[in-house]
Amino acid sequence: MVQTIPSFVLSLLLLLGAAGADPDLLVDFCVANTSAAQDFFFNGVPCIDPAEARGSHFTTSALSTPGNTSANPFGFSGTITDVSVLPGGNGQGLTILREDFAPQGVLPLHTHPRSSEAVMVLQGELLVGFIDTANRMFAQRLRPMEVFMFPRGLIHFQYNPNPSSPALAIAVFNSQNPGAQLVISTFVSNPPMDIEPLKKSYQISEEEVQTIRKNLGA
Ligand SMILES: *[C@@H]1O[C@H](CO)[C@@H](O)[C@H](O)[C@H]1NC(C)=O
Ligand SMILES: *[C@@H]1O[C@H](CO)[C@@H](O)[C@H](O)[C@H]1NC(C)=O
Repeated sequence: MVQTIPSFVLSLLLLLGAAGADPDLLVDFCVANTSAAQDFFFNGVPCIDPAEARGSHFTTSALSTPGNTSANPFGFSGTITDVSVLPGGNGQGLTILREDFAPQGVLPLHTHPRSSEAVMVLQGELLVGFIDTANRMFAQRLRPMEVFMFPRGLIHFQYNPNPSSPALAIAVFNSQNPGAQLVISTFVSNPPMDIEPLKKSYQISEEEVQTIRKNLGA
């Protein structure tokens, strides 16, 4: 007789298989030792002696300082609670990003290879959207306290459509190190991508490639 696996077990296995969070810690915490020598490499950041851990390792005021949205042509500034400012977050599987937008500022098209993202507007408004792997566009306009979810790894953007007011938002990631890969990297990688695949991919001329590179400061 064939043994059948109950369907709830199958669903659970599928759920577990689909979960994409960071690996769990085997201890309560692992406060990052950001001054430890980087003479070998592994997944994460080494911990300090747990007996040395203090309350201050688990707090940060890094997000209380507004970002400088004039420092780049996009009119965007992001400040994240990575282990350099919040060492107690090492191994805890989440980070928070403060997002400042100038009027009509944009967080350019990008993906997070290791994280889903939920964004919540605090002040002003944002136009946000992502494109799925079937090339469907999903976009929304958000007002204060409204939330939008970007599925893991998909190309997305955030834009402040208001021509006169800045916008402020926070984003939450289910990874201590979500990673961000900008789509414009295809034009500004280091070293630069060979120009032929770039021309063919975008169906543009060499001059157009050079113009885009110049506009992006490459
Ligand atoms: C952090 O790492 C450095 C270098 O390995 C070590 O000297 C120091 O004691 C560590 N700090 C703590 C608090 O464990
Ligand atoms: C913001 O960045 C711009 C351009 O780099 C710079 O001129 C300005 O002084 C910065 N403002 C602050 C408050 O740091």
